[in-house]
Amino acid sequence: MHNQLEIPLSLIQILHRAGRVTVLTGAGISAESGVPTFRDAQTGLWAQYNPEDLATPEAFRRNPQLVWEWYAWRRDLVSGVEPNAGHRALAELEQRLPMLTLITQNVDGLHQRAGSRRVIELHGNLFRTKCLEEETLVETWEDRGEIPPRCPRCGAWLRPDVVWFGEMLPTAALREAETAALSCDIFFSIGTSTLVYPAAELPLMALRSGATLVEINPQPTPLSELADFSLRGPAAEVLPMLLP
Ligand code: OAD
Repeated sequence: MHNQLEIPLSLIQILHRAGRVTVLTGAGISAESGVPTFRDAQTGLWAQYNPEDLATPEAFRRNPQLVWEWYAWRRDLVSGVEPNAGHRALAELEQRLPMLTLITQNVDGLHQRAGSRRVIELHGNLFRTKCLEEETLVETWEDRGEIPPRCPRCGAWLRPDVVWFGEMLPTAALREAETAALSCDIFFSIGTSTLVYPAAELPLMALRSGATLVEINPQPTPLSELADFSLRGPAAEVLPMLLP
């Protein structure tokens, strides 16, 4: 018998009374849309590839074509999937609750496609491209058949506007995320292994500021024993159960 996960009534009451809700999502919320996570055994991207070969500035300088094509493959993959019930439930909660701030580590843009409006992208977005040298966004460029393509302004290589290992997070986004973590009544950590900092610090900041901490993840994480509520289930099943 499929054990239907129960949402404690006390959590429902806290959520529906909460003035300010902050949510942090990771790759797990997109898993049920068919987008691979990073660290799930066998199916995670890092089980098949080596992050050092693909998701670092050194990897790009060493083999820009390989890195550009890997992100192009991820863009194609994400373009072919749909947001799931978990993404949609968060967009619905943003409409229903007085103040919900959504912080995501994901670069797939699925929260926005599901209708979420206030989305803080800590790690950038696959569908934005920037100049390697100028660091400014580039919307269009001439396709000269060169991979990676070059910046129309300065001729340097173009790169995805995503955060690579060893790179700083976008300052404004991180500051906004920290403010939202420090000033909320309830903080949800959804679909993240909470292994990558500084994003993983956000739930701890919320906890220290007195927020109720809720984790939604089918697996335990280092955060699980600190959370006030640890809902051990998939986001697309659990999140719709929180809707008023
Ligand atoms: P991970 O792959 O590290 O963790 C995914 C988490 O989602 C795991 O804890 C899974 O148990 C959980 N999960 C899997 N299926 C789920 C489901 N249906 N519902 C809810 N949770 C589910 O991904 P992240 O924690 O997002 O960094 O990784 C953080 C960062 O590390 C990423 O943003 C990326 C990566 O390297 C950068 O790109 C800079």
